[in-house]
Amino acid sequence: MNRPSLLATIGPAGAGKTTWRNRCVPVVADVVSLDDIRAELSPCGCSADQTVNAAAVEVGTAMTRAALAAGRTVVWDTTAYLSGFRAHLLDLAAEFGARAVGLLVLPPLDTVLVRNSRRDGTPCPQCGFSRRVPENRVREMHDAITAALPSLPTEGWHELRYLTPQAKENSR
Ligand SMILES: Nc1ncnc2c1ncn2[C@@H]1O[C@H](COP(=O)(O)OP(=O)(O)O)[C@@H](O)[C@H]1O
Ligand SMILES: [Mg+2]
Ligand SMILES: [Zn+2]
Repeated sequence: MNRPSLLATIGPAGAGKTTWRNRCVPVVADVVSLDDIRAELSPCGCSADQTVNAAAVEVGTAMTRAALAAGRTVVWDTTAYLSGFRAHLLDLAAEFGARAVGLLVLPPLDTVLVRNSRRDGTPCPQCGFSRRVPENRVREMHDAITAALPSLPTEGWHELRYLTPQAKENSR
C-alpha cells in the first residue's frame, strides 16, 4: 500500500485556495472542502453557514480517516488559520502514518481583501451569513497565519509549500 498523504491549504478567505485546488489537485485525490460540506449540511444550503461548521469538520475528519486508511491522498481545502486546527490535521495524518503537507496560500492582505469584496455580501435570510466574509475576519485570519509563519516549520509538517510568493519584510 502507498504511504497515504494529507495535504492542507493554509490561507485566509479569498486567498485563492479553491482556485488552486480546482486547477492543481489530481482527480485521484479525495478532497475535503469545508465549504462544500457546510453547503450539504446547512438547512439553507449555504457554504458559509458557520452554525454547521463543527459538524462539517467531523464529516471531513471521518472522510479523511477512511481515505488515509485506504492509502489514498486527501486534500483539505480549508483556511487552517488556527494552530489548534492544524494540530488536528497533523494528528489525523500521524494516526495513519501519512505524510503531512502544508500548502501556504498567502497573498498580500490587500489582494485578499479585494478578492473577498467581489463576493456576494448579501446575508442569507435564514442563516445570516454571506459568501463575502466580514473584512475584520479576513484580516484576523491573515494576521494569524502571518504570525504563525516562523513557527510553522516546527509544527510537524513533513513538507511546507508556498503556493504564493512570500512577501518580503518591510516591502509595503
Ligand atoms: N492567482 C489568482 N489571480 C487572480 N485571481 C485569483 C487568483 N486565485 C484566485 N483568484 C480569485 O480570487 C477569488 C477567491 O479565490 P478562491 O479560490 O475562491 O479563494 P479561497 O478558496 O481561498 O477563499 C476568486 O474570485 C478567484 O477567481
Ligand atoms: Mg474556497
Ligand atoms: Zn443560509
